[in-house]
Amino acid sequence: MTRLAGKTALITGAARGIGLAFARAYVAEGARVALADVNIERARESARALGPAALALEMDVTRQASIDAGVDEAAERLGGIDILINNAALFTAAPIVEITREDYERVFSVNVAGVLFTLQAVARHMIERGKGGKIINMASQAGRRGEPLVAVYCASKAAVISLTQSAGLNLIRHGINVNAISPGVVDGEHWDGVDAFFARYEGKPLGQKKREVGAAVPYGRMGRPEDLTGMAVFLATDEADYIVAQTFNVDGGQWMS
Ligand SMILES: NC(=O)c1ccc[n+]([C@@H]2O[C@H](COP(=O)([O-])OP(=O)(O)OC[C@H]3O[C@@H](n4cnc5c(N)ncnc54)[C@H](O)[C@@H]3O)[C@@H](O)[C@H]2O)c1
Repeated sequence: MTRLAGKTALITGAARGIGLAFARAYVAEGARVALADVNIERARESARALGPAALALEMDVTRQASIDAGVDEAAERLGGIDILINNAALFTAAPIVEITREDYERVFSVNVAGVLFTLQAVARHMIERGKGGKIINMASQAGRRGEPLVAVYCASKAAVISLTQSAGLNLIRHGINVNAISPGVVDGEHWDGVDAFFARYEGKPLGQKKREVGAAVPYGRMGRPEDLTGMAVFLATDEADYIVAQTFNVDGGQWMS
């Protein structure tokens, strides 16, 4: 299938994990894709593996100059940007009394400011180009409710859901659809880190938290990055033109809204 033939996409945090799975799926659907990541070596390696339809670019979504340069470079090398996936994020966890201002600012600068200002830079490009576009933000079930040890990350993902609503309502007049995907628990290097956090704070052996969360998913296992690609492709097609400012759970049945 080539449902994205002729389309171009910028995906942040695409060097690995879910962002890389999105890049692979988009290339398979005929799109050309820029894999933007602060980890440029890993992004280059991943882009090389995807072939000539993929390119790597260095972007740190916490720095405005880097966002602007990355969006310009993607637009130039791809010949315009039709689709943005705002996927880069950091996880953190700590009891409320141990949260530090530094860690809060580190996480919010990627997960919230990074999403807003990358979205803004790409929206400006799309408006100037006059062809509309699709913007997909990565939220999380963590944004749907608080968790005792995950206050900062949960709040950052609640902000992504809210930004998706406001930006979606503001930009649809330009033919730009802004929506979000809310995964549950998706195995990979990100979750290796989450598992290690819980090992430290809940005294569990490594791997235990993963087994517990996987068993609690109604579908019966943790998600895989490939479980999310169908929604990411669909939201980027013309079939999703009438979908505005929504956040879709793709989480094996964990959250209902
Ligand atoms: N894995 C899960 O269980 C899960 C669940 C819900 C939501 N999500 C969300 O899905 C998205 C992808 O998750 P993942 O599991 O693939 O994460 P990951 O940690 O494997 O990948 C994140 C990528 O973002 C990059 N990145 C970090 N800071 C950056 C910055 N300042 N600028 C540019 N790139 C930066 C990293 O280098 C990395 O390649 C994230 O938004 C995450 O919050 C993941």
